[in-house]
Amino acid sequence: MTLSLMILLGYILGSIPFGLILTKFMTGIDVRTIGSGNIGATNVLRSGHILLAVLTFILDALKGSLAVLIYRFNATVPTTENELIIAAAAVLGHLYPLFLYFRGGKGVATSAGCLLVVAPLVGITAIALWVITIFLTRRSALAALIATVLLPFYAYFLSGFSLMVWSFAISSLVIYKHKDNISRLCQGTESRIDLFTQKNP
Ligand code: G3P
Repeated sequence: MTLSLMILLGYILGSIPFGLILTKFMTGIDVRTIGSGNIGATNVLRSGHILLAVLTFILDALKGSLAVLIYRFNATVPTTENELIIAAAAVLGHLYPLFLYFRGGKGVATSAGCLLVVAPLVGITAIALWVITIFLTRRSALAALIATVLLPFYAYFLSGFSLMVWSFAISSLVIYKHKDNISRLCQGTESRIDLFTQKNP
């Protein structure tokens, strides 16, 4: 498989809206019509189904991991730079999916899934920051924003220049996708996450 085909495959994999598919098929709810309208795990949690939310996070992350792994096992001499291109294609697929008229999610889980394969220590740090901030603030978007804003810095120290450049580009897009969350956070109206009593608002 050529690099261009693997980039295309990465984009198509990233385009699969697991949150929407799972919620629609398992509960009949279109997740785009509730809460923030996002197709990600946090908004699936607002449907009241914690298992679906967890599954959405795992599958959204796995599609990013899988895209990079397909490249790694197909390339004659895999390079980190090419892995980052495939990873970017997968994240772009999630942000601007082919199957949803390019109206996608916010890219947090898919970026994490890519990072766990390309630079595991960076991925683990991102997820740890996200989990700790959620635990402290109960605000998923704030947790995502903190892990994302800091990503280029710890990516540089834990991996190197290429990953820092990638992180800067992807973080910019992820932050842009959180623009509504940012205004809600500034106004103090961003909803809190409660894993066991989360209900459809
Ligand atoms: O990963 C998405 C999360 O950061 C925010 O989701 O649904 O609250 O906009 P949501």
